[in-house]
Amino acid sequence: MPDRIDAHFAPAGPPAGDLRAPPDKSISHRAALLGAFGEGDTRISRYLDSADTRSTLAAVESLGAGVTAQPDGPGSLEVVVTGFGLRGAAAPGRPIDVGNAGTLIRLLTGLLAGQEGRSFVLDGDASIRSRPMGRIAEPLRQMGASVETADRGVPPLAISGRRLRAIHYELPVASAQVKSCLLLAGLLADGRTTVREPAETRDHSERMLRAAGADVRIERERPSLPTDPVAGTIGISPAAAIALPAMTVPGDLSSAAFHLVAGLIVPGGDVRLTGVGINPTRVGLLGILNRMGADLEVVEAGSEGGEPVGTLRARGCDLQATQVGAADVAMAIDELPLVGLLGCFADGTTTVTGAAELRHKESDRIAGVVDALNALGGEARALSDGFAVTGTGGLRGGEMDSRGDHRLAMLGAVAGLASREGVTVRGFGAARVSYPGFESDLRSLLG
Ligand code: S3P
Repeated sequence: MPDRIDAHFAPAGPPAGDLRAPPDKSISHRAALLGAFGEGDTRISRYLDSADTRSTLAAVESLGAGVTAQPDGPGSLEVVVTGFGLRGAAAPGRPIDVGNAGTLIRLLTGLLAGQEGRSFVLDGDASIRSRPMGRIAEPLRQMGASVETADRGVPPLAISGRRLRAIHYELPVASAQVKSCLLLAGLLADGRTTVREPAETRDHSERMLRAAGADVRIERERPSLPTDPVAGTIGISPAAAIALPAMTVPGDLSSAAFHLVAGLIVPGGDVRLTGVGINPTRVGLLGILNRMGADLEVVEAGSEGGEPVGTLRARGCDLQATQVGAADVAMAIDELPLVGLLGCFADGTTTVTGAAELRHKESDRIAGVVDALNALGGEARALSDGFAVTGTGGLRGGEMDSRGDHRLAMLGAVAGLASREGVTVRGFGAARVSYPGFESDLRSLLG
């Protein structure tokens, strides 16, 4: 298994220089899916070349889409997807392997649930087989879908396409994947589907669905307190067809964040990331960094593929502890492990709460972050819905396990550069899930 490849990251001088952020994973998955269920060709520029997003290309191909892919830069592909139409997925006759990709399995299930008269099985790796699918199966069943899970509500999923009816659904937890699954199913339903989210989550699906001609409306609620998350309701009308002729994928802030944090916690660091997507529903980390006193500059530089992009510059500086709660969590969900690492270098105790969702990611990221930081000489404590990390002036270093989780693998690498003795990351190979070029990009900043 390539995931089991280990790597060592020695303490290093200040990371400095410019990098182009790799293409966004969430947006790449969505572009391939909308292309496949659309009419005609979708030309996707800067499609992320990673294990996860290759799983999506293979999945749509097995459902009958045409797919061509050519390299169009380091870590990115120019992809043309020829669609089979909104109701035209073919039953592949064998399980579709989603690999490690939670976004793929949840969004695709919404679309397959409405393919009348055809059956599909979706399965994936050991991590996918531990991830909760009841959160999509339950509302889809209310829409008339037939979605069976294994015991305990995990994959494999067996889906028999049915005629779907529109519902109003209140998400019990904020999840862009569940919201997107239901909006995609709503395209195939017999009326207007509405989904209320208790906190604003990434809106890439809404933006791309509109660009593909779907009728999507969003109403935001006013929070009672400024520290409360912003809830909202998203409505979608059924469509006869969608079409997304072209899409350019902006850079992924979640990947760029590792280099930015390296720039911040290694004294003398000065790192610039260009072409980074700065969609307001994704930038929770930037607000958290500001509160920690980070030396961070954000320059907006137009838009790509209907998403704002910019250049981010981070320089080594002293950091103060901060408290991250419900208002920040959904918009920084994938960056919260890095907040734990930052906490080791900050003055005081940094806490993350309201983030029980972290237990249901590619690994249990509460346990993973706390164990990794403690193994490296940090002072971290798990909470039921987050963690607390007390800064001790840095990290000693040592050995940590990625648990097969790409984001923990990359966190270990950054910790190594900033540590006193270096870090060996067991299972560093997991980084290929979202960012195969991560190690060489990081090392390129070290001169
Ligand atoms: C994603 C949404 C988030 C995030 C995941 C990608 C997406 O998950 O953690 O990495 O592409 O919609 P949830 O929506 O389940 O929180």
